[in-house]
Amino acid sequence: MKIIASNFKTNHTRKSTKEFIENINKFLIDKNIKNDIYIFPPATALDRFETTNNLTIGAQNAFYVKDGSYTGEIGKIHLDEFNIKTILIGHSERRHILGETQKTISLKFNYFKSLGYKIIYCVGEPLEIKNQGLSQTLGYIQKQFEGIDLDYENTIVAYEPVWAIGTGVSSTVEDITQIHKKLSKKLSCPLLYGGSVKASNISEILDITNVDGVLIGTASWLEEDFKDIIDIANSKN
Ligand code: PGA
Repeated sequence: MKIIASNFKTNHTRKSTKEFIENINKFLIDKNIKNDIYIFPPATALDRFETTNNLTIGAQNAFYVKDGSYTGEIGKIHLDEFNIKTILIGHSERRHILGETQKTISLKFNYFKSLGYKIIYCVGEPLEIKNQGLSQTLGYIQKQFEGIDLDYENTIVAYEPVWAIGTGVSSTVEDITQIHKKLSKKLSCPLLYGGSVKASNISEILDITNVDGVLIGTASWLEEDFKDIIDIANSKN
């Protein structure tokens, strides 16, 4: 069984998210899809969706508080309202564009761990680190595990090289194989790959040893594309 996750990022409205989730939910039931599917809509589109067992709706981000004075952020009570128990933490856009430090990220991880959330924890190196070679890349990723409890049983790790995210250029099968082999030695949790995954490359990526699934941005935003991807992944079970 594989994990197929869609991160909407700053796309889809409340209305289009609702339609998307309802249609994907129906598709999973009609096609008897067994893989675990996750969708991460923007915070404004979260709601109490009725979904089949293998479709989980999660939050892209939340602050590590129940509530309080943190302008622009949402906290635990906002997720509780919709029974959201799954969250993305450490995504490269939050690290590199929104300036989240490893300290903040570990505080978030520990807060949502203490609440028993399922955490999809993202790591990955920028291009200048990749160009320095494998040991620098692994060293960089190692630092992204600082303050993170890798034994927390409700964790999924996503390896997402920054240079492959949103660029249309995925990492090569050889590179993914190499990094996933190293990471899987440290981790007991499922390990996803993310970075320009699409219908044309998902099959070869899912074939890689130690790849338990994928985290997808761009290629998952159109319903038909996401259905194609789900279909291809399903045909491999
Ligand atoms: P992408 O994004 O599929 O558009 O490369 C992946 C991600 O950010 O999770």
